[in-house]
Amino acid sequence: MSGVNEIRSTFLKFFADNGHEIVSSSPLVPRNDPTLMFTNAGMVQFKNVFTGVEKRHYQRATTSQKCVRAGGKHNDLDNVGYTARHLTFFEMLGNFSFGDYFKERAIELAWKLITKEFALKKDKLLVTVYHTDDDAAALWKKIAGFTDDRIIRIPTSDNFWAMGDTGPCGPCSEIFIDRGEHIWGGPPGSPEEDGDRFLEFWNLVFMQFEQVTPEQRLDLPRPSIDTGMGLERMASILQGVESVFETDTFRHLVEAAASALGQGPGKDNIASYRVIADHLRASSFLISDGVLPSNEGRGYVLRRIMRRAMRHAQLLGASEPLMHRLVWALVREMGQAYPELVRAEKMIEETLQQEETRFRKTLDRGLAILDEKSAGLKKGDMFDGDTAFTLYDTYGFPLDLTQDALRSRGIGVDLVSFDDAMERQRQKARASWVGSGDTASEAIWFPLREKLGATEFLGYETETAEGVVGALVRDGAAVDQLKPGESGAIVLNQTPFYAESGGQVGDLGVMLGEGVRVRVTDTQKKAGDLFVHLGTVEQGTLKAGMALQLDVDHGRRSSIRAHHSATHILHEALRQVLGDHIAQRGSLVAPDRLRFDFVHQKPITPEELARVEDIANNVVLENDEVTTRLMGVDEAREAGARALFGEKYGDEVRVVSMGKTAREHGQNALGWSVELCGGTHVRRTGDIGLISVTSESAVASGVRRIEALTGNYARKHANDAMQLAKNAASELRAPLEEMPARIAALMDERKKLERELSDARKKLAMGGGVTGTFLTSEAPDTADFRGQVGDGIILVGEVRFFRRSVSGIEMKDLKSLADEGKRLVGSGVVAIVNTAGDGKAGVVVGVTSDLTARYNAVDLVRVASEALGGKGGGGRPDMAQAGGPDGAKANAALAAIEKAMAGA
Ligand code: ALA
Repeated sequence: MSGVNEIRSTFLKFFADNGHEIVSSSPLVPRNDPTLMFTNAGMVQFKNVFTGVEKRHYQRATTSQKCVRAGGKHNDLDNVGYTARHLTFFEMLGNFSFGDYFKERAIELAWKLITKEFALKKDKLLVTVYHTDDDAAALWKKIAGFTDDRIIRIPTSDNFWAMGDTGPCGPCSEIFIDRGEHIWGGPPGSPEEDGDRFLEFWNLVFMQFEQVTPEQRLDLPRPSIDTGMGLERMASILQGVESVFETDTFRHLVEAAASALGQGPGKDNIASYRVIADHLRASSFLISDGVLPSNEGRGYVLRRIMRRAMRHAQLLGASEPLMHRLVWALVREMGQAYPELVRAEKMIEETLQQEETRFRKTLDRGLAILDEKSAGLKKGDMFDGDTAFTLYDTYGFPLDLTQDALRSRGIGVDLVSFDDAMERQRQKARASWVGSGDTASEAIWFPLREKLGATEFLGYETETAEGVVGALVRDGAAVDQLKPGESGAIVLNQTPFYAESGGQVGDLGVMLGEGVRVRVTDTQKKAGDLFVHLGTVEQGTLKAGMALQLDVDHGRRSSIRAHHSATHILHEALRQVLGDHIAQRGSLVAPDRLRFDFVHQKPITPEELARVEDIANNVVLENDEVTTRLMGVDEAREAGARALFGEKYGDEVRVVSMGKTAREHGQNALGWSVELCGGTHVRRTGDIGLISVTSESAVASGVRRIEALTGNYARKHANDAMQLAKNAASELRAPLEEMPARIAALMDERKKLERELSDARKKLAMGGGVTGTFLTSEAPDTADFRGQVGDGIILVGEVRFFRRSVSGIEMKDLKSLADEGKRLVGSGVVAIVNTAGDGKAGVVVGVTSDLTARYNAVDLVRVASEALGGKGGGGRPDMAQAGGPDGAKANAALAAIEKAMAGA
């Protein structure tokens, strides 16, 4: 038993056999502790269990925890490669008691494991205890039979373990092994303790306190145990090698690097190989836990680690990016114990390659400057801080990389002038904001952004996390607190809340702290990457500096995810059906619907829309995994990723892809739909459930819009539509399937009836009174008709005037009635006023062609229109029409025409 994988499982099994629950490693980005840069010990995931805030169903646990010690309280970055035992990434094996057993049992278990299971020789072992901890010293004597000289009392913080500035802590006892006189170093507490001879491999912490603030320390509810054994160190002991880098895992990683470089490690360059192997592990595990290289916070620590390795690759003469070519070896070594590594393999490779390609562009030039400017320096000299800043700012050399490069020559960096140069740069950036045209109310965010840095977004991986309040803003001004009932903006150091962008709406949810409850009503991004939570304090007083439990409204976010992924799928489906010219113009991704605008010149036919929907739902049914990777913009575009036209992207972009058939058919290596996108998505397309397009319309010239629903919203929409149809069918007293035919028949019948009704009305209008009998050649000009008003025809002077007041006739039929009138009179003027159902009137005047020289229909119709309360009218001299609001004046209108005729 000595391979790393075996040692890990032996440890876990030993504690499981002793009543401990095996708990898997938590991620490297602490979700439950926003004060920590990275998970740096096994106890981090149990922090709240120790303090009694959180309860678990077990009181004893054992883990193998991924840890990174770089860039935080415990920072080993600078040592890596130069000692036999320091690593930035390592696995910590631990056993934990949450108020169950305490010192005695902890020491018993530890002693049994190392002397029985691991069979370490007792005479090689020694321990330290905190100088005042007599109990621990006595227990070591009793259990291990150690004499006093093997129990070293240490008065410093080395034997008082704390996770960070705050959190659970307590005195500790460390177990050391003497590796023999041939290695340089002295026992703990001696001046030579930094050497590698005496190796600490297990730390037993007797958790008794909680550091609440730097000044205040409380007793824990019940004394507890937290231990941490460095797996790699134990492996080096059990494998009988002097350094962790000679254990199996590291040997294999170094071999992979050597074979990629086509050369083996030698005495002079072994440190570089070690740096590469360690940093490969740290970078890969960080990337697989969602950290991406950036210029801030965790992302910057990752970048520093990556670039340090990349510089060493260059020192080894690598002519091409190296790191990404080693990932397979790491996955082979550790993928079984940490499946997240297997899942993220592609993403890790792409991220490493991207970073290395980019860094190499400036690396040579930067190194040349470094050589040139340090050429005249000798051991003990200081390298100019201004140049170190130029290397940082222009050539992407993190400060520690410059320090690392000069260290072997005993040259330091002038940090005062480096900081000065950095400050000058900040001032310049600040000055440029002033002119950026932001309104006064928005201006508050820039100084906050500068003070607090970018908000770390954890929401791709988790929907609950803790965060510390960095700033509170109310009515456009920073405040110290928000009282119950007050609303304001809350800025945290990290958050799982998605801030509105790329069409996806901001998250809602709650934030909980001691006695405090805040309802989050929106999340917005300000000053580029500051996440601003808008909310109302429902309970307690929210203060800057408070740690809060952050809970995104999970159900709402799930349907936002579904709608966002559905938008991508519809985008691609539209492109396939309508053509390549489809370019996105905008979108809305909300919990209850999605909207997608795109360039297309004509309406989409129902058949096209049905095809789009079919294609989209087939992709849903494929249930392919949705993958996310980080790529360079150009590389992403080359891979066929669709980007929003005119959108500004950073150098690195997230690429979201889904749909497997395209991959399987070799059409696109990434997937069927490939888009640049910062939004949140479903894990598998099947999570969308169903996509239903509910409308298609025009929003601007050449821009169409579709709206669609997913999952339960789509199902509900379909159910509602079905219910409506059923209700309609029951009104028709017809089975659902016969509805269309029945409705068509009803419409036909209605048309026929309308026609018949109109004909009947026309007949009625033209008939009656004298009309029928009068239509003979005799009589029209007899005096009997003169001045007679009523149905029929009168003579105005010698001119026949046919006039009718009718109702309920359609306007379009009025003209044909007037023609009919003209035909009846033979020669004369015809005027018909029609009163509609709404009380308004229409009037038509016709003049037979023999009289148009004398009477103009247009003039006459105007006279009538005036009488009806209307204005004007129009037409030709032989036929004109007009209208007016006052249908009750129909007879007055006819009289007015008569008068006009008489006067003409
Ligand atoms: N938490 C303790 C350590 O990290 C065990 O050393």
